Amino acid sequence: MNHSEAGAFWERNAEAWTQLARAGHDVFRDQVNTPAFFALLPPVAGLAGLDLGCGEGHHTRLLARQGALMTGLDIAPTFIRHAEAEESRAPLGISYVTASAVHLPFPDRVFDFVTGFMSLHDIPELEVVLREIVRVLRPGGFLQFSILHPCFNPPHRRVVRDEAGDATAIEVSDYFLDAEGRVDTWTFGSVPESLRRTYGDFKVPRFHRTLAEWMNLLVDSGLVIERCAEPRPSAAAVAERPTLRDGEVAPYFLHLRARRPARPAA
Ligand SMILES: C[S@@+](CC[C@H](N)C(=O)[O-])C[C@H]1O[C@@H](n2cnc3c(N)ncnc32)[C@H](O)[C@@H]1O
Repeated sequence: MNHSEAGAFWERNAEAWTQLARAGHDVFRDQVNTPAFFALLPPVAGLAGLDLGCGEGHHTRLLARQGALMTGLDIAPTFIRHAEAEESRAPLGISYVTASAVHLPFPDRVFDFVTGFMSLHDIPELEVVLREIVRVLRPGGFLQFSILHPCFNPPHRRVVRDEAGDATAIEVSDYFLDAEGRVDTWTFGSVPESLRRTYGDFKVPRFHRTLAEWMNLLVDSGLVIERCAEPRPSAAAVAERPTLRDGEVAPYFLHLRARRPARPAA
């Protein structure tokens, strides 16, 4: 499967994803992943940023509200249509572009930072995408992204529960499986059955890579790894939503920040 074929799956997911995420059903994103991502993010006010795989623009808007001058890019036209509609309704100065991350339609060295919220693992040609990201970053600029945790969320993850239904362990396997292009079928955990019937499940192609592959691809692209994080839900969030405890046993997500060196290596 190539990036266009994977993008076609996302186009088919886009309407339901937008409606369900905007209705608050992407609970792990809102309660765990996004707060941790912004806690890791350096100040971005006044910086030019590209949000790669921006979806309907949720995080692009959060970045713009921090004062960044944002461009959002996504392969799925329906996502971009929803993002642009929101920009027209409540302008934040964001430009949106429909394009694939494998051919970024921008000149060299125009962005101070690039973000990828749960999008880089959706693209098979990751090496090409990283080359494009480095190309559009100014020297000294950074890439920060979140992905499914390669170690604790590989192709097979099952939550082991006690009699009370509380998560006690995570069973993982298939870490070394070449899952290129395997299509997973699921929806957000909090979607009620009635809405599930209305919208159906997402079909998400997955391109799992091992932790070593991620690290080596970043290093080979010329980026210097600077910071990483493994988000865990806060006690308050778990008290409010007990299902988040699954993310306390072992992390669902991995966050990485890497920088294009200000000067080429000697
Ligand atoms: C899991 S969704 C995340 C959306 C958004 N970043 C968010 O956090 O709400 C992954 C996104 O990556 C986009 N995507 C997948 N392949 C892409 C590609 N080759 N180029 C650009 N975007 C892509 C999908 O259309 C989708 O919007």
